Amino acid sequence: MNIRTVAATPFTDQKPGTSGLRKKVAVFRAAHYLENFVQAVFDTILENADIPADATLTLGGDGRYLNREAIQVILRMAAANGFGKVLVGQGGILSTPAASCVIRKYRTFGGLILSASHNPGGPDGDFGIKYNTPNGGPAPEKVTDAIFARSKALASYRIVDADDIDLDRIGTQAVGDMAVEVIDPVADYAELMESLFDFAAIRDLIAGGFRLCFDAMHAVTGPYAKEIIERRLGALAGTVINGMPLEDFGGGHPDPNLTYADQLVATMYGKDAPDFGAASDGDGDRNMILGRGFFVTPSDSLAVIAANARLAPGYAKGIAGIARSMPTSAAADRVAQKLGVPCYETPTGWKFFGNLMDAGKVTLCGEESFGTGSSHVREKDGLWAVLFWLDILAKRRQSVEQILEDHWAIFGRNVYSRHDHEALPTAVANGIIEQVRAACATLPGRAFGNYTVKACDDFSYTDPVDGSVSTGQGLRIIFEDGSRIVFRLSGTGTEGATLRVYLEAFEADPARQRGDAQLLLAGLIAIADDISGLKARSGRERPTVIT
Ligand code: G1P
Ligand code: ZN
Repeated sequence: MNIRTVAATPFTDQKPGTSGLRKKVAVFRAAHYLENFVQAVFDTILENADIPADATLTLGGDGRYLNREAIQVILRMAAANGFGKVLVGQGGILSTPAASCVIRKYRTFGGLILSASHNPGGPDGDFGIKYNTPNGGPAPEKVTDAIFARSKALASYRIVDADDIDLDRIGTQAVGDMAVEVIDPVADYAELMESLFDFAAIRDLIAGGFRLCFDAMHAVTGPYAKEIIERRLGALAGTVINGMPLEDFGGGHPDPNLTYADQLVATMYGKDAPDFGAASDGDGDRNMILGRGFFVTPSDSLAVIAANARLAPGYAKGIAGIARSMPTSAAADRVAQKLGVPCYETPTGWKFFGNLMDAGKVTLCGEESFGTGSSHVREKDGLWAVLFWLDILAKRRQSVEQILEDHWAIFGRNVYSRHDHEALPTAVANGIIEQVRAACATLPGRAFGNYTVKACDDFSYTDPVDGSVSTGQGLRIIFEDGSRIVFRLSGTGTEGATLRVYLEAFEADPARQRGDAQLLLAGLIAIADDISGLKARSGRERPTVIT
């Protein structure tokens, strides 16, 4: 095996964000850029004394532009850095939850996932890479900090001279002295789903005329959804739309929300709409759930799944606890309370759930940003959420809307919305945050119409498992009746700054629970602007995306 050590100048901008290193394709294409980061990852994880000799690594991505090229480079570098074997998804494909599943099932020494999640792809789009640890979850901050520090100090990287492997051929090949096994990217994941959900009951529901539509948004879940929903569950061919993964996602923005999944939304709100609609994002970890003419907020989806968890075979014994990110509504807290299980409030980002799941403290986790999942893997999981809903619908035989109305009647409704102000000049976004921060201390006790502020703080979290502290996780204004406004800057955008405003109003009265969230939240929306000076500072009348 011919290992070359290539001298390179280190980069100073390779700090992994909430979901790994994410940059424009052009940045990743700069000479030695990808190699520098990969070497920093390998150096960091190989320093760990517990690494087995000839360790195996999992590798795959969401199929976006640069995916195949990057995989060939990473394989040559893995061989040069002493890995014994790499499991790689056929065609370079592994959805994020499937990668987590493979890491766990085959106990590999973690994995590298190539994705920029829901960000657009293509030559002008985004690319990304992240390291997941052997538990299948995103690396914790202490690891990503170490990777960043290493990336700034590297003077060279190691790579072998070898030809590209055939990524489309299932089976074992070699790169230098290292084995590369190209695996079916769907099989292990589909088997895991069959072990958790009642496929017979769902097949029966569908055979009885229940109609559904799944929008893969030309991203990675196409092959997964076709295999599971059409082949194994018997839905009609064509149930999965936009099911062919494309390097640029067909020019779209593969983010399953009411703005970007417009084809699905038009179908579900149109004439003769199916009973159930769902979509997933670029790398398959997000989900959006729709009924006929009805949108389920991700916060409500988590609460409904928790309240009905025992209906699914994989959760029949009940759940240990629930965790939600701070900006996610407290709907799940109400379910946890009724079930007598703990509910944890964590900072934004899936990595905070990993410790809780590893310690057996929680079974279900969710974020308002269309992320739902459980301890079956260590990533959020889009198709898993869809199958959970189908299992619940198969058992309850009610419409999505009826299930939500029943839920609100029992638990009350946490009316919820998120307003995103994308691509703001950084100074403007910081100015808005600073205005709220400055007001924070003076807010408690102040009344705005019917709302009186109870508390205002910058959220910080102490991990109950390892004691690590994360500060500066978002400014939250909590009102006497439990309503909330949260201001937070996105950690995943690649253009300017994205300001997120999260709005939540609790409504206990069933007579007032129905209705449009934006109307029900109008009072809080005005208060948010009043406190932050958002409109005046940004010069914008409305958010870029409302969910
Ligand atoms: C966003 C979401 C967050 C999610 C992350 C990765 O991060 O808000 O919940 O974990 O993407 O999918 P943000 O851009 O808000 O930092
Ligand atoms: Zn994603």
